[in-house]
Parts: sequence; C-alpha cells; structure tokens
Amino acid sequence: MDRTVVLITGCSSGIGLHLALRLASDPSQGFKVYATLRDLMAQGPLWEAARSRGCPPGSLEMLQLDVTDADSIAAARARVTEGRVDVLVCNAGRGLVGPLEAHEEGAVGSVLDVNLTGTVRMLQAFLPDMKRRRSGRILVTGSVGGLMALPFNAVYCASKFAIEGLCESLAILLQPFGVHLSLIECGPVHTAFPEKLEGGLGGVLDRADAETRDLFSRYLSHSEQIFLEAGQDPEDVTEVFLQALRAPRPALRYFTTERFLPLIQLRFSDPSGCSYVAAAHQAVFGDQAAEGSDGAGAEAGAGEPGAPELGAPLAAPK
Ligand SMILES: NC(=O)c1ccc[n+]([C@@H]2O[C@H](COP(=O)([O-])OP(=O)(O)OC[C@H]3O[C@@H](n4cnc5c(N)ncnc54)[C@H](OP(=O)(O)O)[C@@H]3O)[C@@H](O)[C@H]2O)c1
Repeated sequence: MDRTVVLITGCSSGIGLHLALRLASDPSQGFKVYATLRDLMAQGPLWEAARSRGCPPGSLEMLQLDVTDADSIAAARARVTEGRVDVLVCNAGRGLVGPLEAHEEGAVGSVLDVNLTGTVRMLQAFLPDMKRRRSGRILVTGSVGGLMALPFNAVYCASKFAIEGLCESLAILLQPFGVHLSLIECGPVHTAFPEKLEGGLGGVLDRADAETRDLFSRYLSHSEQIFLEAGQDPEDVTEVFLQALRAPRPALRYFTTERFLPLIQLRFSDPSGCSYVAAAHQAVFGDQAAEGSDGAGAEAGAGEPGAPELGAPLAAPK
C-alpha cells in the first residue's frame, strides 16, 4: 500500500518537529514524512528525537527548504522521490512582539515574508499538482492571533489575519477539486517561538514613549501568566493536526483549545469592534480603556449583556 507522503515546513523545533515525529512514528507506518528545515545545520534535535522515538528507517527524510526562497522550495519539491505530496503542512512562522514604532523596517518585511508570502509560495509550488490529481490535503498552522488581535503583536497578527483570508478564499475554490485545506488554530504553545522572535523581544524599545513602554511591560506579565495557565504542549497540538488529516470531510478550522472562542465570537457579535477592543484592553491591561475624555472606548465593554465571561485573561497569540 502506498504511504501518505507528507511535507512539513519549519521542522527545526516546536510544532513542526513534533508533527514530523508523530507522523513518522505512527504505528500504522503509513506516512513518509519530508521534514523540511530552513537550515539543515539545525537537523540534530529532530534526528535525535527520531532515534529515541524509534521512527522506522525510511519514514523520515530531512530537506532544506526556506519559505522565503522560491528556488529552495522548487529544489525540495524535486527531491520528493514519490513525485507527489499528499499532505502539505505550511507551518513555518516567526513572531514579532513590541511597540510598532520599535520594529526595524527589515523585521516587519521579514515576518510578512515568512508568515504570509512564504505560505503563498508553498501553495503556489504544491497546489497545482494537487488540483491536477484532484486529491490532496493542506494543513496550515494558524493562530488565535489571526482571529483576534492583541496589543504589541500588530504585525504578527496582520500576517496571521492575512493567512485566514488566504486560506478561506482557497477553501471555497478548492471544493470541486477534491483538495481540502484546514487551518489548525493554535493558542499559546510551549515551543522555541519566543526565543526566535524577529529582532528580539520588544525591538528598539527606546523609540517608544514611556507610557507605551509601561503598557508593554504589563502586556509581557499578562502574556507570561497566560502561557503558565493555558500553554499547550506541542505533542497535544499535533493530535489536532492528525484529526484534520484523518477527517473524511475536513473542516476549514480546527481549534487546539476552546479557551479563546468566546472572545473570537465577540468580534463577530459586535461587528463595530467596540466590544472586543474594550474587552481586550481590560483583559490585557486590567483596567477600563480610558479613550480620550468622552469615555467612548468603554461604550460597549465586557460588562454588557451578551458579552462573554471575560474573567479569563487573553492569551498572547503566537
Ligand atoms: N508557539 C505558539 O504559541 C504558537 C501559537 C499559535 C501559532 N503558532 C504558529 O506555529 C507555527 C510554528 O511555530 P512554533 O511555535 O513551533 O515555533 P518555533 O519552534 O519557533 O518553530 C518555527 C519554525 O519555523 C521555521 N522558520 C522560520 N523562518 C523560516 C523560513 N524562512 N523558512 C522555513 N522555516 C522557517 C523555524 O526555523 P529556524 O529554526 O530555522 O528559524 C522553526 O523551525 C508558526 O507558524 C507560528 O506562528 C505558534
């Protein structure tokens, strides 16, 4: 029986690494996994983990693939000996956290290039063949930060919001082609993500005013608390990828945690955005939004009838 050929981006650490291991060591031995890495020098931890998990010989292969480089994507595709990819996992991503004015221009461009344009490049490279074969699955690592924004994550959230539009648009088109696309929407997950933030944590902070810097440090405390309370292990998150992969009729979105659904729903139940903005400000900074002198920022806040229980603080979207 032919094995299911899976190609995953961003396997040097975190979700990509654990998903590659999980599939390569699946008891069915039904997967051939191409784990791709931006830099093959970083392949040590994955090989080590594959050995200790007892991945059978030939279940796992590592390829260099940088999602910002179309030639590297084409070279990796050419090295898939089966001549097809049944499941493409667009997982590579990078974070950017801090006041907007503290981001270097290069950091902004780089995050958008990896998270958004990199995903587009991958889809351009692999989707046409899936359409031709009228078969294939695409899993994209999404984020609750693509469904509700948080302060000090503006560019990261912009990239993940864009991924939502990209994927939703394609999902509609792909219906007649027998190709299924699913977003795996993650909340906070314990990975190397914070260590690999573009430009380091916060960026060039002295470019921001004192009040913004103070709010940033309050945001960081909040974020730390949320990771402590609600952070998931990548092993648990990978099971949600498997659920999507095995579903006979996969949904567009799978959530690794239900914790943030009330807040996400709040964005849609009050399309003006006022309820969400007030609730998010309150949840992150622990005080009412004091917008200008007319108090407009608090007009549709968390205490309103129909607003979800917001006692649970808001997680950092990563
Ligand atoms: N951790 C969270 O809380 C969380 C929450 C929601 C969503 N996510 C999403 O989950 C995905 C995986 O992140 P993670 O949490 O597992 O963090 P991670 O451990 O930092 O993994 C990110 C991976 O992306 C790779 N990558 C970065 N730039 C790349 C490029 N140009 N080409 C190819 N690969 C590249 C990294 O490779 P290098 O090591 O070579 O840089 C790394 O392997 C990301 O899309 C992220 O946005 C994470």
